[in-house]
Amino acid sequence: MKEPMQSGAQVYSKPALFLYDFFVLKFSNSFVWKCPSKILIDWYNQHISANHLDIGVGTGYFLDRCIYPKPPKISLLDLNPNTLEVSAKRIRRYQPQTHQADILKPLSLDLTFDSIAMNYLLHCLPGNMHSKEMAFQNARSLLNKNGVVFGATILGDKSRTNFLANKLLTLYNAKGIFSNSDDTLQDLEMHLANHFNRYSLKQQGHVALFSAHA
Ligand SMILES: C[S@@+](CC[C@H](N)C(=O)[O-])C[C@H]1O[C@@H](n2cnc3c(N)ncnc32)[C@H](O)[C@@H]1O
Repeated sequence: MKEPMQSGAQVYSKPALFLYDFFVLKFSNSFVWKCPSKILIDWYNQHISANHLDIGVGTGYFLDRCIYPKPPKISLLDLNPNTLEVSAKRIRRYQPQTHQADILKPLSLDLTFDSIAMNYLLHCLPGNMHSKEMAFQNARSLLNKNGVVFGATILGDKSRTNFLANKLLTLYNAKGIFSNSDDTLQDLEMHLANHFNRYSLKQQGHVALFSAHA
């Protein structure tokens, strides 16, 4: 029997994806999480290669806007077929390959990459940072020598939140859209240190931005 899709992936219906760029990437990033999308585009520009895998693709906004060092080969991996369809269509000029898979399960991908992004993926995965460990393990297994894994995730720390962030964190965690109540910068750092030889980590507003090399 087919397992039901986790809420952190299931929520991305076609109508939700229609609203996603405006509500999440324009409004929430600037006014709730205090990490404007421009900063995330810069993060992509600093790390993306021409042989790239994007995990947890949403609408493909960053892949559409970032600057590649040369014409890229792009693979998209997501649990939800809607996000794969919408993002593949958006960047069809790069003829991406799509893979429907759960990043928390062993993968059967016969490809390796020079860059792998996990942008706004970790806070959608169920459980705490420890239950998300498989995502780091899987990403690392697909990375070429000298390759980079990078991304950003919204942390669950409510002590420093504004009113709106507090409300949205509570609501999204109650609905299973986010599972980041226990996600801390310290736990993220521990997993980066466990799985990669070197990493960098910084915080902007409620968002942790990371990059790591095998
Ligand atoms: C918040 S969206 C991020 C979209 C995009 N990366 C961005 O930064 O705008 C999270 C994405 O992760 C996907 N996702 C959630 N759980 C997943 C899982 N277990 N395996 C693979 N993808 C997953 C969702 O379907 C969705 O596309």
